[in-house]
Amino acid sequence: MRIDIITVVPDLLEGPFSHSILKRAEDKGLAKVRVHNLRDYSSGKQKQVDDYAFGGGAGMVMMIEPIAKCIDALKSERDYDEVIYMTPDGETFNQSMANELSLKGNIIILCGHYKGVDERIRQKWITREISIGDYVLSGGELAAAVVTDAIIRLLPGVLNDETSALTDSFQDGLLAPPVYTRPADYEGLKVPDILLSGHQSKIDSWRFEASVRRTKERRPDLLEGKEI
Ligand code: ADE
Repeated sequence: MRIDIITVVPDLLEGPFSHSILKRAEDKGLAKVRVHNLRDYSSGKQKQVDDYAFGGGAGMVMMIEPIAKCIDALKSERDYDEVIYMTPDGETFNQSMANELSLKGNIIILCGHYKGVDERIRQKWITREISIGDYVLSGGELAAAVVTDAIIRLLPGVLNDETSALTDSFQDGLLAPPVYTRPADYEGLKVPDILLSGHQSKIDSWRFEASVRRTKERRPDLLEGKEI
């Protein structure tokens, strides 16, 4: 899978993709993430990528031309399944969207900045608009990093234990159960006996019940319309 991210602050995306799981995915040849500086596609001397909003008002708007040029240049090299725009007024990101996007081949992610992009970009080039939550970030870069991380860790072979993404919170519509490691008794704080019993089917039932209990307590909305 390949993800091309278009941004005016490429430095912001250097950290997240050069470490841990994303780095491993890249090293294993399972995912390629490429960051493109929008200013490289500006034809102006000042490398301008934003301009005043028609109709007035505070804040700059990202111009069509550099974005269109960058997207078109990428599209001339390969086909893309989605051109995503990160924006607080997009569809709220969740695990099922991450699952769906992890099955795609190539994706472009455009990071918004300032007051956002010229609406005509959204109309003509963008296939999907995603928000990572009901709050406003200073740009789409951190949101793009969140989405990219959530997608790439789902690709087969990226996580060491292939099954571990399947037991994540949300993967089956439930929150994950509590987990414990050694020591079994830390100054009187004990691990539930069942987890030490070695009885796998009883452990599985305990984990399932703990997941349901946790979901009921913290996210009852996830259980609506479900029979458990
Ligand atoms: N850009 C600014 N805020 C954002 C958000 N909440 N989600 C996605 N992109 C954004």
